[in-house]
Amino acid sequence: INKEKTLLDPNKFLVIAHRGASVNAPEHTMAAYRLAREMEADYLEVDLQLSKDGVLVAIHDLTVDRTTNGSGIVTEMTLSELKQLDAGSWFNKKFPDMAKEEFVGQEIPTLQEIIDEFGESVNYYIETKKPEKNEGIEDELLDLLNKNNLLDESLPEGKVVIQSFSEESLLRMRSLHPTIPLIQLERDPVLGPEAKKRLEEIREYAVGVGTYFEKIDEEFVKIARDIGLLVHLYTVNTAEVAEKWKEAGANGIFTDNISGTLPHLK
Ligand code: G3P
Ligand code: CA
Repeated sequence: INKEKTLLDPNKFLVIAHRGASVNAPEHTMAAYRLAREMEADYLEVDLQLSKDGVLVAIHDLTVDRTTNGSGIVTEMTLSELKQLDAGSWFNKKFPDMAKEEFVGQEIPTLQEIIDEFGESVNYYIETKKPEKNEGIEDELLDLLNKNNLLDESLPEGKVVIQSFSEESLLRMRSLHPTIPLIQLERDPVLGPEAKKRLEEIREYAVGVGTYFEKIDEEFVKIARDIGLLVHLYTVNTAEVAEKWKEAGANGIFTDNISGTLPHLK
């Protein structure tokens, strides 16, 4: 991994397309990822799970119910079952102002399809979801990244970033690969006198911490930055909130609303 060309420069502020350009198109579809690239987001965020037959697919929820016309648990469905679902029409119904005919019939993408389409033209910020329900996801992921040359030494550091709420999943990643950048997601970040201790634990294996902006204070950002951790905040959908945290020293945001935030930040 090439540190000279790092994408994780702490002086840069990153705009991570949360589930793609998910205000403008159905989340985790090719349509949403294409828009995110057009809007020049720094990263495509991909929530990853394994189908029943072991294929890496991009979908946020544990079930397909909210974001497709089907129902069922992702890890209990085969790829062929998942591929039959329409992952776009729900968006047109829920957000008529944003509806587009091309969203009808969008599929749940596999990670391989995403990489086939975008290759090295984008940067990937991949989350291993619920590793306890997706056993072996880390091994599959690294295998696929390797096969697609996305772990090559010549690529800039941060071409692929791995995030998880599961420390176990990140430690598994670290044991399989010595340098791939890891982000620990914290649902309930520790603040106050214990904050430093927790962040130092994270610093042992991760380059940064991702957390919910409404659960932290400026002191948290300062402590994390002082010990060399990046701070990425979700889900920031207004320019005002984005600017506030940029000012406070955060290193980036996950946003559904790229066009409403990015132009104010660069
Ligand atoms: O990965 C950052 C943020 O997306 C975490 O929350 O539930 O949207 O995956 P979630
Ligand atoms: Ca996520």
